[in-house]
Amino acid sequence: MKKIIIGITGASGSILAQYLITGLSEYPVACHCVLTGNGERVFEYETGLSFDNYLKSLGETNSTIIKHDNDNLFAPIASGSYGFDAMVIIPCSMGSLAKIAHGYADSLLLRAADVCIKEKLQLIVIPRETPLSAIHLRNMLTLSDAGVTIMPPMPAYYQHPTTLSDITWLTVGRIMEKIGISNDYHQTWQGAK
Ligand SMILES: Cc1cc2nc3c(=O)[nH]c(=O)nc-3n(C[C@H](O)[C@H](O)[C@H](O)COP(=O)(O)O)c2cc1C
Repeated sequence: MKKIIIGITGASGSILAQYLITGLSEYPVACHCVLTGNGERVFEYETGLSFDNYLKSLGETNSTIIKHDNDNLFAPIASGSYGFDAMVIIPCSMGSLAKIAHGYADSLLLRAADVCIKEKLQLIVIPRETPLSAIHLRNMLTLSDAGVTIMPPMPAYYQHPTTLSDITWLTVGRIMEKIGISNDYHQTWQGAK
C-alpha cells in the first residue's frame, strides 16, 4: 500500500486538497493528512465543511485516511525511516513554501517536507499566489533545484473544462499520475488535427 502525505496549508484552493483526498480514497493507499492552523481555517471557509466533517462525509473508503496533529513531531511521518512514498502540499502558501525552501522544520508538515528533500523522496508542491514576487519565484527555484516538483494549479484550457469541478479534477488527476496512481480524471494529450 502506497503511503502518501497530504499537507494542507492556508493558501486559497482547499478544493484541490478536498478533491485529491476524495480521488485517492478510491484507491488502496494510506493518506496521512496534516494541516497548518490556517490550512484548517481556510479549508472550512472555502469548502463550507470542517476538515474533520469532510473526512466523515467520505464514509467507508478503499484507502486509510489518517489526520495528524501539526504539532506532533512524534508522528511516524516525521521520520524518513517510516518509508513513505510521496508528499503533496496542496495548496501551498508562500509562507510554508519559504520555510521549506530554507529548511525551517518546526511543525509536522514542514518536517515531513524537509524529510522528503533530505531522503530524496517525491515532494510535489502546489503553490497558490498571484502575482508572484521575486522572493516567491526564488524560493520555488530553490525547491526545484533540490528535486521538488512545483505544480501550480494552472488549468489545462485545451481540455475544454467548463466548471470549477472539471478544472479541479484535471489538476488533481495530473497530480495523481505524478505519484503513480493512474486515473481517468485527466486525459493525456493525444494530439489534434
Ligand atoms: C482566505 C485566505 C486565503 C489565503 N490565500 C493565500 C494564498 O492563496 N496564498 C498564500 O500564500 N497565502 C494565502 N493566505 C495567507 C496565508 O494563510 C498566511 O500567509 C498564513 O500565515 C500561511 O501559513 P501556513 O502556510 O502555515 O498555513 C490566505 C489567507 C486567507 C485567510
